[in-house]
Amino acid sequence: MSDLTFNKIAGGVLLTGLVIFGLREASDIVFKKTEVEKAGYEIAVQEESAEGGAAAADTPPDWNAVLTPANVAAGQAVSAKCAACHKLDASNANSTGPGLWDVVGRKPAGHPGFNYSGAMKDFAGKQPIWDYDALYTFLKAPGKDVPGTNMTFVGLKKPEDRIALIAYLHSLGSTLPVPPPRPAAAAAPAAEGAPAADAAAPGAPGGTTAPAAGAAAAPAAPAAGGNTAPPKA
Ligand code: HEC
Repeated sequence: MSDLTFNKIAGGVLLTGLVIFGLREASDIVFKKTEVEKAGYEIAVQEESAEGGAAAADTPPDWNAVLTPANVAAGQAVSAKCAACHKLDASNANSTGPGLWDVVGRKPAGHPGFNYSGAMKDFAGKQPIWDYDALYTFLKAPGKDVPGTNMTFVGLKKPEDRIALIAYLHSLGSTLPVPPPRPAAAAAPAAEGAPAADAAAPGAPGGTTAPAAGAAAAPAAPAAGGNTAPPKA
């Protein structure tokens, strides 16, 4: 074999190698390898929706006002998203997730016989019971509220879905009392009105308007009676 032939063959082999290598690199660029972060599959029921603005003002509602039969009914429909992993009936059996009968008012990680994650057990250290507010926050983004939880559910973005669902969960054998009506709504105007009321009380205007109204109403009634009386007679 002449040197030239050898060079040609060697060059060919080298070129082939370079082409193969180049193609592999190129395919790595084209088809990005993604690491599988979590084993198993994720049931992502609720998609992220474009309501970033609402997120900032996502405070729990006045539970006294929203635990209504209408919300219980609406919440039952929402609970279909939970039923893939949770039993919601009175058997309270565990499945992928713990039974959710009587979960409202229950201690987090407190269902007997369920193998909770360390994250959920830790959470129980700072959250003594699943009260309305705690569920409201948890169900929005379980993985954010309890980082490391085994509940691979993306969450319910819409406040009305969570409110309805919590009303439904509360109807499932929960003994947690319904909170009293929130005074906040009534207190805000009252706080503003308070000084005015104090000022009016000692002053004359407050006292005079009441009798004045009464006085005005009093003559009006007989007058009306007097007017109607003649046609009758
Ligand atoms: C993909 C399965 C899955 C879905 C869907 C799911 N969960 Fe869970 N859930 C779990 C698992 C697993 C746990 C236990 C979490 C842990 O130990 O970290 C859990 C825990 C919980 C807990 C805490 C219970 C306790 O005893 O402390 C509540 C409350 C809860 N889920 C409510 C819901 C609701 C309401 C829905 C529907 C909106 C839902 N989950 C949807 C799997 C799921």
